Amino acid sequence: MYEKTLVLLKPDAIERQLIGSIITYFEEAGLKIHGLKLLKAKKSVVETHYQEHKEKPFFPSVVEFLTSGPIVALVVGGYESIAKVRKICGDTEPGKAEVASIRGRWAHISRHSMTGGILKNLVHSSDCRESAAKEISLWFDECELLDYSSPNDGWFNF
Ligand code: CDP
Ligand code: MG
Repeated sequence: MYEKTLVLLKPDAIERQLIGSIITYFEEAGLKIHGLKLLKAKKSVVETHYQEHKEKPFFPSVVEFLTSGPIVALVVGGYESIAKVRKICGDTEPGKAEVASIRGRWAHISRHSMTGGILKNLVHSSDCRESAAKEISLWFDECELLDYSSPNDGWFNF
């Protein structure tokens, strides 16, 4: 089934100038970009976004991290894209992520050597249909999302 999912490129991705490489990864996997913007996230929006983690010890540091610099918000669509995008992003802990995933490829050393314990793992992606719907409407107005056809549709989406 065709699904849409929310992806955030976190401040470390922008600082490290990986925007193009990461978006290319999704496009080359046959996923379609329905929404795309560079922004500085409001603390209240990030707190809502991560509300499932609000009792966890890392909550204040992940909120601080996500508001520390520009981020890119994306809506990505494709056949079973929610699970597919999670796989492409890789394990939460970059050291455990598959080498060919975004986190495995570009963030594998970040926790220990660079961040003092904050998991700077480059990307966020929605983990199920319910959170995808919630997160897409948290970060995007409807008028910012576009549907369009592509000659690749027949190859990747069925
Ligand atoms: O992002 P993902 O869904 O893979 O992981 P999560 O368990 O939902 O955690 C959200 C984010 O909080 C992670 O991506 C990390 O940036 C951060 N986190 C952290 O800094 N330290 C942890 N022990 C767990 C998560
Ligand atoms: Mg999560």
